[in-house]
Amino acid sequence: MGETVYLNGEFIAKDEAKISPNDRGFIFADGVYEVVKYYNAKAFRYQDHIERLNRSLAEIGINYTQTNQLEAVFNVLLSRNSKLNQQAGIYLQITRGADTRVHHFPKDITPTVYAFTTDLVSNTENLEKGIKVISADDIRWHRCDIKSVSLLPNTMLYNKAVEEGAGECILVRDGYVTEATHSSVCAVKNGVLITHPLSNLILPGITRKVVLEICAANNIKVEERLFTKEELLEMDEIFISGTGSEITPVVQVDNIEIGERKPGKVTKLIQEKFFEMIP
Ligand SMILES: Cc1ncc(COP(=O)(O)O)c(C=O)c1O
Repeated sequence: MGETVYLNGEFIAKDEAKISPNDRGFIFADGVYEVVKYYNAKAFRYQDHIERLNRSLAEIGINYTQTNQLEAVFNVLLSRNSKLNQQAGIYLQITRGADTRVHHFPKDITPTVYAFTTDLVSNTENLEKGIKVISADDIRWHRCDIKSVSLLPNTMLYNKAVEEGAGECILVRDGYVTEATHSSVCAVKNGVLITHPLSNLILPGITRKVVLEICAANNIKVEERLFTKEELLEMDEIFISGTGSEITPVVQVDNIEIGERKPGKVTKLIQEKFFEMIP
């Protein structure tokens, strides 16, 4: 049996899944997405993901009111794809739907809803040893708070990282570190955790939110503030956080080694507390 996917109310074989070439997701990248991680069929921070999805949908005016039914959909997908006893991801995408190609939002259009399972397994080596990242100019738009499928800048920048043998690309806008192509960025200086404040320039990362909760519970001081790339290179510790990356230490940025080129104390503590919260 091949892979089962969910498309517009139906569970079907991936080979059978068809969408219109006029789908605005295809034509305009007019849609939003979420990735939820499951640990042995238990979702991590499910409600946070649905709240962020609802917000993304509202921000771009897609009228899809059935997000409360998605949990059951995801469970069927995990079961049909034999992913109940392992780590797995669910990718969900909702686009505005198909119509003639017009720039305004057509009225009475039915959203396209597509979901599938992914192999989202912790990268133990990266978690233990840390990764090298590159840095680059943040060439994205000014609504990075929306989890939009319009990810060409992210893919271009991440591809550059891969070509250079790095694990992520940290983004710098007007001299300040924002986040990375598919993860949030946190740094530690003199025991204080520093991260870009929530704004239109970064995605409100759910793992980032969990990190801030861990800091609050463990008396780690937090500064949500702007910091420059020069400051970043002088940090004692750096890590990226994300649904896929979990808490991954960063031990090198471009050609500069961070700390002693090994995961720092605060990073390791946050990582440990994070894994204690896994369902
Ligand atoms: C641009 C960007 N920032 C941050 C994150 C991390 O968000 P989360 O922790 O919710 O996975 C992601 C995740 O895909 C992302 O794409």
